[in-house]
Amino acid sequence: MSRIEIVQLTQQFKGHRAVDAVDLVIEDGDFVVLLGPSGCGKTTLLRMIAGLLEPTQGRILIDGVDVTELPSKKRNLAMVFQSYALYPHLSVAKNLAFPLAVLRTPKAERVRRVHEVAASLGLENLLERKPRELSGGQRQRVAVGRALVRRPSAYLMDEPLSNLDAKLRTATRQELSELHAELSATFVYVTHDQVEAMTMATKIVVLDAGRIEQFGTPDEIYHRPASVFVAGFVGAPPMNLVVGTVGSIGGVVTATAEGIEARLWPGVAEKRTVVIGVRPEHLRLDDFAANAESTAGSASALSVEGVVERIENLGSEQVLYLRVGDTLMTARGDDFGALRRGDLLALSAPIERIHLFDEATGQRLEWVPEPDELPAAAAQVAVMA
Ligand SMILES: Nc1ncnc2c1ncn2[C@@H]1O[C@H](COP(=O)(O)OP(=O)(O)OP(=O)(O)O)[C@@H](O)[C@H]1O
Ligand SMILES: [Mg+2]
Repeated sequence: MSRIEIVQLTQQFKGHRAVDAVDLVIEDGDFVVLLGPSGCGKTTLLRMIAGLLEPTQGRILIDGVDVTELPSKKRNLAMVFQSYALYPHLSVAKNLAFPLAVLRTPKAERVRRVHEVAASLGLENLLERKPRELSGGQRQRVAVGRALVRRPSAYLMDEPLSNLDAKLRTATRQELSELHAELSATFVYVTHDQVEAMTMATKIVVLDAGRIEQFGTPDEIYHRPASVFVAGFVGAPPMNLVVGTVGSIGGVVTATAEGIEARLWPGVAEKRTVVIGVRPEHLRLDDFAANAESTAGSASALSVEGVVERIENLGSEQVLYLRVGDTLMTARGDDFGALRRGDLLALSAPIERIHLFDEATGQRLEWVPEPDELPAAAAQVAVMA
């Protein structure tokens, strides 16, 4: 078991701050995914936790014990890195058994654990081979397996699935999730793959330029992104983000942009520039009946008007590209088949699917979207204005 606490952790490379005063608490049993674009500092942060890189500043505590000065091998962590370092002269079986041999685990137990792990990762037929006789994906699975044979206090993994093909990736992802459930061990897992993050994580840390943009459950990250950056980074196709204005028209607070109007709630709001966000799957063909249902008969909804630019057919669904003013918006659905390029079209989304961000800071503007709480929301808009 292991709770990892990170305090003001910083890594200053020559002329470049890769990790910038990060505070983070990883609870015992959490599966925390560090997610972010290339170069945002994920590997650097993980290497500091692992003890492979000395922080410029800050502390790392494991179960309340300060391990900042403790060498890697004394931290009782199992690691799998982007570049898997297998022992080239040892067979797969011996590579897998190596951490147990170091711990002087009895032979029978060693053999049992190696076979268990090999079976779960589909390595049973490769046990006698040497690493050079394996494909990149197979080597990576051996590296994952080597971390799994041991029962450390936490597992640290840096893109361990990046060399696997799509099918193996899905299977190994499931293995890791099951393993996490079974061991209830702490996992810290680096990836830039949002599907991995969404499916495996109990909590996601979204990093940008060495700083935490948001720390939350996959649901929170997806449905209440804390900033324009998170909103644009998580989701495919990404959230539609359009600069617009919050104001009021005839006693109703509105958010508007060219071709876009959202009627939010009764009230008055001071004018301010915002970023209006709505996810592609929440934009629907403007059908009167569906609209009335989705907004419980109220006029509170976002409507978008534009010109169809193209439609991509993905088989299970279609992605619609709509030219709205200066921006190209996307919608996901399964009923765009009859539309043609150049068609004039209206789409709408229910009020609770609208996200608002401060244009200057990029930070989310909190408001209460439940219809029965609209008066409270109206009060909040006065605060945020
Ligand atoms: N030893 C080093 N010396 C100087 N700069 C470094 C060093 N290691 C990493 N960096 C820089 O620090 C930043 C963060 O690197 P890091 O490897 O942590 O990124 P990452 O989020 O893991 O990216 P990726 O997804 O591409 O693996 C990058 O700009 C990188 O160029
Ligand atoms: Mg990396």
